[in-house]
This record gives sequence, C-alpha cells and structure tokens, in this order.
Amino acid sequence: MSATAEKRAVTASKPAFVSRMVEVASATADPVRASEGLARELESGNILFFPRMPFALSEDDRAFLLARKQTDAGYHKNIAYRPAEDRLTGAGKMPARDAAKLKSILKAYSDWAAQFLNERIPEYAGRWVRDFASYRPIEEKGRKARLTARNDLAHVDAFPTRPTHGDRILRVFVNINPTKGRVWVTSETFEGLAERFAREVGIPGTGAHMFGKMARALGIRQWSRSPYDAFMLRFHDFLKENSEFQRDCVKRQWDFPPGSCWICYTDMVSHAVLSGQFALEQTFLISRHAMTLPEKSPIRILERICGHPLSN
Ligand SMILES: [Fe+2]
Repeated sequence: MSATAEKRAVTASKPAFVSRMVEVASATADPVRASEGLARELESGNILFFPRMPFALSEDDRAFLLARKQTDAGYHKNIAYRPAEDRLTGAGKMPARDAAKLKSILKAYSDWAAQFLNERIPEYAGRWVRDFASYRPIEEKGRKARLTARNDLAHVDAFPTRPTHGDRILRVFVNINPTKGRVWVTSETFEGLAERFAREVGIPGTGAHMFGKMARALGIRQWSRSPYDAFMLRFHDFLKENSEFQRDCVKRQWDFPPGSCWICYTDMVSHAVLSGQFALEQTFLISRHAMTLPEKSPIRILERICGHPLSN
C-alpha cells in the first residue's frame, strides 16, 4: 500500500471529528452546575440528549397532534410556526378552530424551548434570535422529496431563505410519538467534512465579503446572502448529491426514543433522518459572537481554510 493510500485508509476508518451523544439529567437541584460545559459540547459537534421529555404536553394536545394529517404536497416540508409574526404556515386546509389550536400548541412549544435554552445554556442568554418552530407529522421512512430536500441523506443544514452570516443553527427536537423512536444517522462533523470537501465545493475568493456588504447596503436582495451562506448552501447540496460520500461515509446511528428531547448545532452535526413520525422542533440562530469555542464555528473553520473573511 502506498503512503498516500494508507493515509487515506486511516482517515476513512478513524475520522477525527464525529458526533457523540451527551446524556443530560432532566431534573437537578443545581441547574447552573448542570449546564456547565453544555455549550462546549454543542459547539464541539455533540448532541445533548434528555431521555425524559422536559416539555409538558397534555394528553389532549398530544392526541390532537397525532391526529393531524399533513398532505405531503412537496412544497411544504413541515408545518411551521413563525414566532416573530405569530403565524402558522404549511398546515394546508383545516378548520379555523383546528388551525388556532395547532398554532397555540406550537407557540407553547416555542416559548418553552426558548426558556429551556436560557436555563440550560446561560452563556447564550439574550444572544440568539428565535427562528421557526416546526411540527413534523410525516413518516420519514420512504418519504418522497427531490434529492436536495431529502432528510434521509447526510447533510449539514443551511437555509436558502434566511442567511445567517455565520451565526449558528441550533435546533431543539422532541419526539412526541408514543411508541416509535426517531432514528438518525450522523457522520463526521463539519470540521472534518470541510477539511475534506471545501475546496472541491469551491471556497469564495478574497473580497467576496466586501462585495456582499456593498450589495446589502444598496438593497440588492439576491446578494444579501454572505459568501459564507452561499458556500453552506452549496455544501449542503454537494453532500446530498455525492452518492460516494453517502455510501462510504462514517455512520453512527441514534434512536431517539418516544418522549425524548435532543439539541444540536445542525450546521455542525452532519445528520440524516432514517425514520420517525411526529416530532416537534424549534430553531434558534445563535450569535457567532456568543460561542465559547469560536474556533469551532463553521465560519471560522472555513476562514481558516480559505485564509480570508467570509462575512462582516
Ligand atoms: Fe437537516
């Protein structure tokens, strides 16, 4: 075996960066102490796991959620609640009373997740924007979607319509399915994947961030996406379209049982959802300036690779 081939084989079998599951006790007499180190775990690409659902969902509300039938029309991935507008989207046609009830449950989940995050990760308090909450009532196994929208292919998240400029995508999930787990596969974290693939995906040239800044100042909307956001979108699609990577990448499988909760940076943890139905989720955009391990932020990792700034 040549030295290069041997090195490649070692890299493939022992990746430097993979996600771990970190179990967190749900109840504690000392919440400050229990939160110690959790930000660092998240920022390192690990998943915080709470075995017993800390969100109080009444039996009546759960039965209501389990009875929802979202049509898989293809243009709405999930039912979403937009806290800033207090608005529900993607629910399709349903009686006004049901829509109001669905919205109130998602609002309660969203409010709970914000409080939970503040309590559990005090380092981030006041340094995030509450993005959308979602309800995912469709069985993920065998779900039909165009390739880059598929959930069952390993990827890191990037939002086409909501550029983050390097801020982080943190998501809080709860499995409300009474009997079935939600099954994920994770692979290498962004840290390892960027080392391997960033150049192939194409890193932005010097000065691209200044162009983006000027374009935003002039109100040219299509350029308000920073070079970082443009890269992350390309990276997301590249991973899903790369059948060799999907086949050969390191895989760890996780089963999130009924009633459990988990939190991770989905712009860092590469993930695929293999199966599961009925999950709640809340997204937070955490300021990149709030990181306790700033060097682990995807934007810093990319800037190290390309040698110049990617956002302002
Ligand atoms: Fe995702």
